[in-house]
Amino acid sequence: MKIGMGSDHGGFELKEYIKEQLAIEGYELVDYGTYSMESVHYPEFGEKVARGVVRGEVDLGIIMCGTGLGISMAANKVKGIRAALVSEEYSARMARRHNDANILAMGGRVVGKDLGLSIVRAFLASEFEGGRHETRVNLITAIEAKN
Ligand code: RB5
Repeated sequence: MKIGMGSDHGGFELKEYIKEQLAIEGYELVDYGTYSMESVHYPEFGEKVARGVVRGEVDLGIIMCGTGLGISMAANKVKGIRAALVSEEYSARMARRHNDANILAMGGRVVGKDLGLSIVRAFLASEFEGGRHETRVNLITAIEAKN
């Protein structure tokens, strides 16, 4: 599975840690930046990962900023993106199983490294269940189509 990752400076350390761990576990990774702790603007990186996902460059995305709020808002502006901001494992599993989330967002200043990695593992190990959940996800897409 190919994973796209992105963060601003607030999520940089968590991104680097998750990236290292996923590489050890054999995931193929694309790092869309940022590449240092220098202050940057999170919308750029939310959009870059989101466009990578909709273009099919990567299967799923993982994004972080300080809270995960701004970068998830930015990613969700890209048509076809369902970015889920999560800070515990249950929601990470449900984001895939019920919402078919294609991007996981976390707050680098909210979750620690170990919890962040557990959230990522829960997200990547879960699959969309379809059925009645597909009907609901299609209704989300229909709202997007009205814009
Ligand atoms: C940057 O200081 C911070 O505002 C950003 O990382 C994020 O938390 C915004 O939602």
